[in-house]
Amino acid sequence: MSLHATKHSAHQNKADQVVIGFFTDQIKNQHTEQLNDDIKKQINERFNNKDFTGQSGQQVTLYHDNGQQVVLVGLGKNDDFTATALYDTTHKVVTAAAGSRCQSVALYLNINDYKNIDPEQATKLVALAASHAAYRYEDTKSFKDDNIHHLARIEVATNKDNAEAFRLAAGIAKGINTTRHLGNYPPNLCTPKYLAKFATDIAHEHDNCDIDVLTKKQMKDMGMGALLAVAQGSHNKPRMIVLSYHGTEKNKDPIALVGKGITFDTGGISLKPGANMDEMKYDMCGAASVIGAFVAAVELQLPINLKVFVPAVENMPDGKAYRPGDVITSYSGQTIEVLNTDAEGRMILCDTLTYAQEFKPEVIVDLATLTGACVVALGHNAAAVMTKTEGMADEFKQAGEQIHDRVWELPLWDEYQKQLDTSFADMKNIGGVPAGTITAGCFLSRFTKDQKWAHIDIAGVAWKDKKEGATGRPVAMLTQYLINKSQA
Ligand code: BES
Ligand code: MN
Ligand code: ZN
Repeated sequence: MSLHATKHSAHQNKADQVVIGFFTDQIKNQHTEQLNDDIKKQINERFNNKDFTGQSGQQVTLYHDNGQQVVLVGLGKNDDFTATALYDTTHKVVTAAAGSRCQSVALYLNINDYKNIDPEQATKLVALAASHAAYRYEDTKSFKDDNIHHLARIEVATNKDNAEAFRLAAGIAKGINTTRHLGNYPPNLCTPKYLAKFATDIAHEHDNCDIDVLTKKQMKDMGMGALLAVAQGSHNKPRMIVLSYHGTEKNKDPIALVGKGITFDTGGISLKPGANMDEMKYDMCGAASVIGAFVAAVELQLPINLKVFVPAVENMPDGKAYRPGDVITSYSGQTIEVLNTDAEGRMILCDTLTYAQEFKPEVIVDLATLTGACVVALGHNAAAVMTKTEGMADEFKQAGEQIHDRVWELPLWDEYQKQLDTSFADMKNIGGVPAGTITAGCFLSRFTKDQKWAHIDIAGVAWKDKKEGATGRPVAMLTQYLINKSQA
């Protein structure tokens, strides 16, 4: 599927389906004036006999003599129309088009006329919602007809003032699709080795990119004890993937993104229950998100230096697996008592955070499907951001609002740190039931003491359900953050 901006008016548009949005309070909008007489007559009939009034949720399909479909979509009252409504309406319309025989659809949704949404944001939301609705997972299907989908082309009606916003959205959409592919790809195929190959291909296919992949042996020689403890139960050997992009002067400190890449989380010896364990293939969505944001940044050639770190590891129970009670020495030298092998994400992240600091980044942001507690706290609506660096939480909240991919802050107050105390090591790897998302953040904060850093728990937003699968969140928010940084 390809995404395009169009400046053609609705009546010139040759798409199989032309979608036109109407507000109840502006029912005779600009696009009908430009339509051909046959369709205009049909529309006026619908208006006059009140078949179509523009109420939100209304959708009517008309047919042109030449076979073209014209879909009228109700947007409700302009005063009440929100960013969420725009995203959801676009998603619904394109989902319907993708399930029909249409090969191309053009969206005339009055991007410049909203009272509560500025044209730039509206352009991005329409493009992202359309792309999201058109995505199909086909990588491991031999019966491709299971996914009835003919949609090859989506056009969004914009004007020249929105061209840059559209360009940004198209780059972000590429990143999101990359992330969704990785999140949905099964754990027998999406192994640490596969992720390393995938990242290597990205680096080779784009200008100004480098790749480095550390092997298990290299990590052992370096002393990454916490990461290797998790890895030791699996026959799939771990990798540390480092992707670099140089988009501005060499001497400018990079932005570092770290993504949890547990390619499958069984829980290890502290085995998870069987129900829905299959979904723990998405425990590498932190990795998938930072790789997706990397793709978007490179696609857009943002003027930043970017480094993406992905510890790719499988967490399995085995005769060689790490066990509850083990005391491990991390790469930082701090010791960790393992009280639950299912708290493995923080074990691989702490060594990666220590390693990332060797590259003197301006800031480090880590993304991880870290805690079930985060799903309890915020559900599927917002990711949780935690930081001790002044101002950073607001930067993510703002980026999330701009692109409709929201985050909410949880506190990293020192009072929570004592939940990690133990008699047998510098810290234990779990903090008990109260504030489970925060104590995981506290654990990571002990490895980023002299570094501008934020942690984002994406356990609730990265995945929808077994039907919809990986969402591609929070790539839009993360890329918008990088765009904002590039303009600062
Ligand atoms: N990958 C899980 C967290 C998770 C759970 C993500 C559900 C998405 C949906 C993580 O490795 C984990 O198992 N966390 C434990 C931590 C606990 C042992 C302190 C959890 O949340 O139960
Ligand atoms: Mn786990
Ligand atoms: Zn996990």
